[in-house]
Amino acid sequence: MTIRINLDDRSYDIAIERGILTRAGKLLNLNRSVLIVTDDGVPAEYAECIAEQCLNPVVVIIKQGEENKTISTYEQLCRTMLDFNFNRHDCVVAVGGGIVGDISGFVAASFMRGVDFYNIPTTLLSQVDSSIGGKVAVNLDTYKNIIGAFYQPKKVIIDPEVLKTLPERQFANGMAEAVKMSLTSDAELFEIIEKSDIEQNIDVIIEKSLLIKKNVVENDEREQGIRKILNFGHTIGHAIESAEYKNLYHGECVALGMLPMCSDSVKNRLIPVLKKIGLPVIYDFDKAVVAENLAHDKKSSSKSITGIFVEEIGSYKIEELTINEFKELL
Ligand SMILES: NC(=O)c1ccc[n+]([C@@H]2O[C@H](COP(=O)([O-])OP(=O)(O)OC[C@H]3O[C@@H](n4cnc5c(N)ncnc54)[C@H](O)[C@@H]3O)[C@@H](O)[C@H]2O)c1
Repeated sequence: MTIRINLDDRSYDIAIERGILTRAGKLLNLNRSVLIVTDDGVPAEYAECIAEQCLNPVVVIIKQGEENKTISTYEQLCRTMLDFNFNRHDCVVAVGGGIVGDISGFVAASFMRGVDFYNIPTTLLSQVDSSIGGKVAVNLDTYKNIIGAFYQPKKVIIDPEVLKTLPERQFANGMAEAVKMSLTSDAELFEIIEKSDIEQNIDVIIEKSLLIKKNVVENDEREQGIRKILNFGHTIGHAIESAEYKNLYHGECVALGMLPMCSDSVKNRLIPVLKKIGLPVIYDFDKAVVAENLAHDKKSSSKSITGIFVEEIGSYKIEELTINEFKELL
């Protein structure tokens, strides 16, 4: 299946197919110097498979983990491109999760003022969400994604086959984003997740999630308006995440962050779905610390925070709340 993202001269295709990794050379222009970026948690065979299809591959394996999504990793990648005499007609290929994708995309956006970028996402989160939309970035100190750009890939290749090596908890982490999108935008997708065998239906879940994200990105590439709905569950989620509950994954924080933003009837359906996926529905966090983080969230203007609420599955409502109103939701 191919999904086209229509963004004028920045339009591109997402090709989704089992086994497509082995045919990447037919879909991408790899007949040049290609910086392939992966991390040391991604099975090496995926990047090797791409390298075999390139004229002049240079593979860089960065260290896994959010703490390595830094300017120094960014610099390491740019230096490698310089050392191997890359020019502006060469390209960067990300083979990994959202971290590899975000950092490689930022390298591609800025090296010689921009070279072609291809994204080959290998986690569920990156397949349903982060690989499309063009947000690329690195962290600085404790500020996540604070240095970055909007830079669309030239093509995205999704091979659901690679999810077979993904740890279960990472799979659940990605499912949180699919559930998030279904709640605000697609009741049918929610029902598939609710009623069917998720692993058996993962290809459909990926496609339907991408169609939601496509619609949002095409209407609001630079997050001036509707793209904010992708932040559903993230305001409280981020506040929990930055309370340094390091044992919690991002998707787990989003799951906890979505619940207070739903009506009781939605919650009654959402809780069993989160449990089925293996996401938490209750967590003993320190409300005072989380509330404090809410107040410091970069999305909060001085007096209010945008809240996205789901009263009926497949639709949403946006409201401005004071920080105190948000705290009450906790
Ligand atoms: N650009 C965007 O629009 C956007 C959206 C959401 C999140 N993000 C970013 O995405 C990042 C999180 O991405 P993520 O959840 O993919 O995490 P990740 O990139 O850290 O990957 C998770 C782990 O899975 C491993 N892995 C990757 N693919 C694998 C596979 N097929 N088999 C086995 N292991 C595999 C990785 O080595 C890593 O240890 C964050 O930095 C976040 O800011 C960006």
